[in-house]
Amino acid sequence: MAMPETSPKALLLRNVPLFAGLDDEQLEQLSSVSVKKSYPKNTVILCEGDKSDSLYIIVSGRIKVLIGDEEGKEVILSMLGPGEFFGEMALIDDHPRSANVESTEPCELIIIGKEDFKRCLGSNFEMTTYIMKGLVKRLREADKKIESLALMDVYGRVARVLLDMAEEQDGRLVITNKPTKQDIAHMIGASREMVSRVMRDLTTGGYIQVEAREIVLNELKKRFKGHHFSVK
Ligand code: CMP
Repeated sequence: MAMPETSPKALLLRNVPLFAGLDDEQLEQLSSVSVKKSYPKNTVILCEGDKSDSLYIIVSGRIKVLIGDEEGKEVILSMLGPGEFFGEMALIDDHPRSANVESTEPCELIIIGKEDFKRCLGSNFEMTTYIMKGLVKRLREADKKIESLALMDVYGRVARVLLDMAEEQDGRLVITNKPTKQDIAHMIGASREMVSRVMRDLTTGGYIQVEAREIVLNELKKRFKGHHFSVK
């Protein structure tokens, strides 16, 4: 008997780490209840305080998680990219959305409704563990953010955020998804002018090289050797 063909959406889900533990049948079932949606750059996807009904998985593009006030001041809690998910918190505890989410690039997202997500979690321990690990990772990152806000000066905070965003590539430590100075400022609670000054000093000192599309950090890593930055 011919095997039923895997649908394109199920193939897409197959590459999402969150669903690694699902078998073909479960993937097909999930694919039939999920929706794929595209968002242009700079689109609000979720608003803090909204009632929640879905989990979002990033297929392509990048988003930022932020909290703001009425005067337009904002703090970026995190930047997420392909394979990562958001919107799980409100689904788990039934509280309103904890933060705003906006696209920083054109994005393709898979959206799964609350009941389907909960059903999947209930029947798949691997998926439950993956979500728990994701939550623990976010808590660790939030702890580090509190530490740097409370204990570090702006130079240390800029250095930490740059090193945290970097990846090793052929012996080079680089940030390929180059953040704007405004984004860095919003990540560390400093002004854009202060971030510009610190980055200029780090460039002049030879600690970082700012290129058109990337920032190279090899010397910065040596300078901060021994500090507990999570260089990937
Ligand atoms: P939820 O509260 O449903 O909606 C906003 C989402 O932003 C939240 O779920 C998480 O997925 C995400 N989020 C909130 N805080 C953080 C954080 N500190 N780091 C990464 N993601 C977060």
